[in-house]
Amino acid sequence: MTVPLSDRYHDRLPLSDLTPLVSLGEGSTPLLAAPRLSKRLGLDIHLKCEGANPTGSFKDRGMTIAIAKALEDGADSVVCASTGNTAASAAAYAARAGLSAVVLQPAGAVASGKLAQARALGARLLEVRGSFDDALDSARELAGQGTHVLVNSLNPHRLEGQKTAAFEIAEELGGPPDVLALPYGGGGNACAYAKGFAEWGAGEPRLFAVQSGNRAQTVASAIRIRQPVHAAGVAEAIERSKGSVVTVSDDDILIAWRSLAREEGVFCEPASAAALAGVEASGLAPGTRVVCVITGHGLKDPETAARESPAATAVFADLTSIAEAAA
Ligand code: F0G
Repeated sequence: MTVPLSDRYHDRLPLSDLTPLVSLGEGSTPLLAAPRLSKRLGLDIHLKCEGANPTGSFKDRGMTIAIAKALEDGADSVVCASTGNTAASAAAYAARAGLSAVVLQPAGAVASGKLAQARALGARLLEVRGSFDDALDSARELAGQGTHVLVNSLNPHRLEGQKTAAFEIAEELGGPPDVLALPYGGGGNACAYAKGFAEWGAGEPRLFAVQSGNRAQTVASAIRIRQPVHAAGVAEAIERSKGSVVTVSDDDILIAWRSLAREEGVFCEPASAAALAGVEASGLAPGTRVVCVITGHGLKDPETAARESPAATAVFADLTSIAEAAA
């Protein structure tokens, strides 16, 4: 059975013996070597597969702590704005804790797997006529009234939970990698990794925060965010670690997305592939040890997968036509 991260790292988290446990089995995700990509790029690449979390994204690491703390503090409702994954995670952990969840999403801009999750899990789903940034402003206003706890990454408990991914990587590799690359949306996750490696105390990897050149419209809908709320924290972490913000195109993201699936068997959502696209664009020294954070599962965004992949071939159920089509 998976040990919840709140048990695995209890002493490094803002938890007391009285904090309730709200777990769906998050954390302890696979760190996979990527031999084909490593060979092709001349690097030593590992993939931290965060799509293996209970709702299919890294958000669960933060949500288990944020919801537990909300419950401990006597809340009965939470709110978030989301491009989809935070919403699915908030909905799941709120259901687990017996809290109600309100989620604000930019209308028409959320991948269908995420929408289905938030609805099935009983969240009150509100589609905002506007961008993610507009939805976040509204969520903050609602939380400001005191009726709902905000569970976006502005809630510090979220980042506390998310930092545990850095602990797992450092533990498994016997220290930090040379480079940690991850998609850059609002920047909370980049800050959480930086905090995690700093607290682990064995040195910090160079942080590569990879953003789309077209933040407002990118195919990577999870990171369709105009104004990163954690921009200052990301800039500081990057300066300290001698990393960089890397900007990639949607074409680069889709090429990396296809490589992850076809060369390594890792099917992720487009935003997650930004990490690899950023590494490919960075001209790293041969042999550099890189961890790419694969933030969300491919099934989150079936539309993009269908659009970007070859269609099935229709056949009759006889060997001749099947053998011909399979050749
Ligand atoms: N990857 C995925 C799959 C995401 O869902 C997100 C953010 C990010 C990367 C970027 O992380 O914002 O910490 O820099 N998703 C948020 C959401 C915005 O609402 O689900 P970040």
